[in-house]
Amino acid sequence: MYLTDEELGMLNGTEGPAVQKSMQVLTALGDAFGAERMIPICSAHLPGLSIEVAGEAGVHFLAEMKDKGGKFRVYTTTNICSIDFEEWESIGILPEDHELQQRMSVQSHAMGALELHSCIPYELGHIPRLSDHVAWGESSAVMYANSVLGARTNKEGGPSALAAAITGRVPAYGMHLDENRYAKVVINIKTDLKNMTDYGTLGYFGGKNSKNGIVAFTGMDEHVSNEELKYLAASISSAGTAAMFHAVGITPEASTLEKALGGKEPELTVDFTEADKNKLAEYLDREKGEALDWVVIGCPHVGNAELKELAEALKGKRIAGNVEFWILCSAMGKAFAESNGYKAVIEAAGARLVQDTCPVVMTMESLRNIGRKTLATNSAKLVNCMPGEGFLIHYGDINTLVKAAEKGRWEK
Ligand code: F3S
Repeated sequence: MYLTDEELGMLNGTEGPAVQKSMQVLTALGDAFGAERMIPICSAHLPGLSIEVAGEAGVHFLAEMKDKGGKFRVYTTTNICSIDFEEWESIGILPEDHELQQRMSVQSHAMGALELHSCIPYELGHIPRLSDHVAWGESSAVMYANSVLGARTNKEGGPSALAAAITGRVPAYGMHLDENRYAKVVINIKTDLKNMTDYGTLGYFGGKNSKNGIVAFTGMDEHVSNEELKYLAASISSAGTAAMFHAVGITPEASTLEKALGGKEPELTVDFTEADKNKLAEYLDREKGEALDWVVIGCPHVGNAELKELAEALKGKRIAGNVEFWILCSAMGKAFAESNGYKAVIEAAGARLVQDTCPVVMTMESLRNIGRKTLATNSAKLVNCMPGEGFLIHYGDINTLVKAAEKGRWEK
C-alpha cells in the first residue's frame, strides 16, 4: 500500500507507540482488503466501548493506548455502552458493570472522545457532510451515514475505529470507493408506510432480499421523516450485510434509479406489498401469547421528535404495574426531554427514560438482574438483535405498545 511520508513516519514510530500500533492495525486491514492507499478522515464514532463487547481486556487495551500517548486527532464520539450512567442502580445494572464501564469511559474521554454514549450521533451534532470520509462503527449509524447523509464509512469495529481516530486515516477500500456504492437489488414499495415501525419492517424485508448487496428502494414517500429513515437503516443493517441503501429521489446518491444502480441492470427486482408488510410484521411478533412485562422503545435511540411523540402518546395514560416501560435515549435527549416537560409526562405515565445504553449491549448478568422476560418493541432491529436466550419478543407500533402496556398484557 502506498503511504505518504507522514503515514510512513507514523508506521515507523516517529509519533509514538500508540500511533505506531494504530497504523499497524490499519495497514494490515488495508492489505487484507487490497487498499492502495490511506484516506484522511473527518471524524470517528467509536463502537466496542461497551464492557459487554470489550470486557476487562478491552479496558486494559484502551488504558494502554492512552498511556502510550494515544490521542484522537479527529472529532470523535462514543457509541452506546453497557450502563445508564445516571440511573444504573435503579434499573438493575450491577455495581461491577458500573465500575468497569466507568473505568473504560475515563480512558476514552482522556484520549479526547466526546462521551455521547449513543447510536444516533447524527442526531446529536455529529453530522458528516456528503462525501466526507469518516470511520464509524455501529451498523445502524453506519447505514444512516452512508445512505441518508452520503458520508463514506465502512462498518468499523472497535480496534479499527480506535486506530482511525488516533491516526486520522482509514485504508481506502469498501464504502470509501465510488464503485462499491451502487445497488444490485431494486425493491419497489407498493404499499403505504405509516410510521417508523412500518419502515423498520421494510428494512427487514430489504435486508433479507439484498443478496448481500446494496438495495435501491423506489416509490418511497417523498415526505419520509428522518426518524422513519433511521428505523429503515437500523433494520436493514441488522437483516443484511450491506452498509448502505438508496431511496430513489430521497437519498443523496440516488437522484435517479439509474444513478443508484451505477448504470447497470439490477440482479433482482422485487415488490414490497401490503401482504409482505403484514406477513413480516406477524413474523417479527415472535411471541404469540399475551404475557408482557417489558416495553422497550428506542432502538436506535430516540431523538427529539420521537420524545415529543412519545410524550403525546403517553399523556394521561397509566402503565400497568407489571410492566417496565423503557424509552432509550442519550443523556442529551434526556436533558431535552426534561427541559421541554416531556420527561415529567413520560414519568407520570409510569414510563422511564433510560440513557446511554440498550439491552443488546448490557451484560447478561445485569439483564438477569433486571429480570424481565417478555419484551415488546417497535424496532425490527431489536427483535433481531436481542440475545436469543430467555427473551420472548412482541413487535408492534408505538400505539400498540402503549395500549398493551396500559393493559399489562399483549393485545393487538
Ligand atoms: Fe442502538 Fe442498541 Fe439498537 S446500539 S441501534 S439501541 S441495538
